[in-house]
Amino acid sequence: MLDISRHFRDKEFIKKQIDALAKLKINRLHLHLTDAAGWRIEIKKYPQLTEYAAWRPQETWKEWSEGGSNYINGNDPLAHGGFLTQEDAREIVDYAADRFITVIPEIEMPSHSEEVTATFPNLSCGRPGLPDVCVGNPETYLFYQNVLDEILDIFPSEYIHIGGDEASKQAWKECEKCLALMEKENLDNVDELQSYLIHRMEEYLNSKGRNIIGWDEIMEGTLAPNATVMSWRGTEGGIKAAEAGHDAIMSPGGFYYLDSYQDAPPTQPEAISGYTPLSKVYSYNPVPDSLPPHIAEHIVGIQGNLWCEYIPTAQHAEYMLYPRIIAVAETGWTPQEMRNWDNFYSRAVKFNDMLQRNGYHVFDIRGEVGNRREATLDADHLAKGKRVVYNIPWWDRYNANFEKTLTDGKRGGWSYGDGLWQGFLYRGDQRLDVTIDLEKETEIHYIGADFMQIIGPGVWLPAQVTISISDDGENFTEIATIDHQQKATSGLSFKTFSWQGDAKARYVRYVAKSFEGCLFTDEIIVN
Ligand code: ACM
Ligand code: ZN
Repeated sequence: MLDISRHFRDKEFIKKQIDALAKLKINRLHLHLTDAAGWRIEIKKYPQLTEYAAWRPQETWKEWSEGGSNYINGNDPLAHGGFLTQEDAREIVDYAADRFITVIPEIEMPSHSEEVTATFPNLSCGRPGLPDVCVGNPETYLFYQNVLDEILDIFPSEYIHIGGDEASKQAWKECEKCLALMEKENLDNVDELQSYLIHRMEEYLNSKGRNIIGWDEIMEGTLAPNATVMSWRGTEGGIKAAEAGHDAIMSPGGFYYLDSYQDAPPTQPEAISGYTPLSKVYSYNPVPDSLPPHIAEHIVGIQGNLWCEYIPTAQHAEYMLYPRIIAVAETGWTPQEMRNWDNFYSRAVKFNDMLQRNGYHVFDIRGEVGNRREATLDADHLAKGKRVVYNIPWWDRYNANFEKTLTDGKRGGWSYGDGLWQGFLYRGDQRLDVTIDLEKETEIHYIGADFMQIIGPGVWLPAQVTISISDDGENFTEIATIDHQQKATSGLSFKTFSWQGDAKARYVRYVAKSFEGCLFTDEIIVN
């Protein structure tokens, strides 16, 4: 999947990537054509979409989103952006077909649609520019059907991707039209309301001989009867869909999101987050033996995704794709028993070099730096293996090693999603607040923990850390307060919040607060 909404990429770029995909026996190209950052396909019935919603006053997505996410007329001298004409799109489809590749278009709904609601405020529940379209308004259905009519005419693919991910569904709860539709159709909640839209779109596309694909959120509510599910929030969604007899495509974020860092972040251009080196992509097994055959047969494919929020140039996009897309292809075609990392690695290097000789901008894997040093060593310290009491629970989306995480001796790597970092949600007065029991009075000279910051996904260093000690676990004496002015930084950074001195205690309490976003730490080290 290539996202040409966040930064527009033209037909020459897309054809060049098709050449590489063909060499790798990748047989589908999913184009993410529409999103808040720009509508990228000409629709003759709605010229405003590409006269207005395809253009913005800022060049990069980051500047645009920090600058208020506004659009601008395409003929304004300050306009940045672009779109594929229908003629361009047909040329891409034909070029791909000649190389045995089917192009699958994605028209996002009901969310990721700020560009639609800004252009057509009547399709919004309230003010223009909301992320979700109004699903209570009959004009919304008419709009998408008209758009899809033109899309079907350009793209002959069996599958049409209709998005379905990350809808906020908030405005629907207060919209007269949405509430009226829920009442009329006996829909219990807003998940069912989203399902209603997806079902209607499926019916429409089925009536034209096509099938829908949606991101795994289309399972919230009631899954449309013939839908194929694209599993991106891990693999559970795909497995659940397969269990229900639906086809699924595996595209799990932790393995196949090629917008994540591919090497040590300090050596790389800014990325959205994550850490997915070539070896991690190659390690993915889409159909493990543990899956019973009736589920395995529904896993019909895999997909690598290049989202482009942080990828402003064509060169940068190629750099993120190559060599990792080589591993995507091989994990799709090569059964587990035939996998061999050393063999793959040497072929990937050669293939990458071949691409480079042919004018592609690749990442030279031979210079790979690797994971965060701490993550490659075992941390030995006085609190290792000791019991941790959570005075406030951790964030269950980022459990890591549950109550053992902060004293298990395992340090986190470059990604907060690597299962070694534990998350703490900032919500009101929520924070990290734990007490470690060292089991006996202990001489202590150091207490510290590392935190990560990557503000794109809302991960911040703490504003304040307080460290206290106690002999009885009830009466604590504060030994350090570390204030830190929270401020936005680019890319990924780490900071240790620690105390050094001389003390004696059995219990250590470590509290970290944030006023901006969530916190992630991997280990509380006591020496
Ligand atoms: C997605 O990454 N929102 C599908
Ligand atoms: Zn509405």
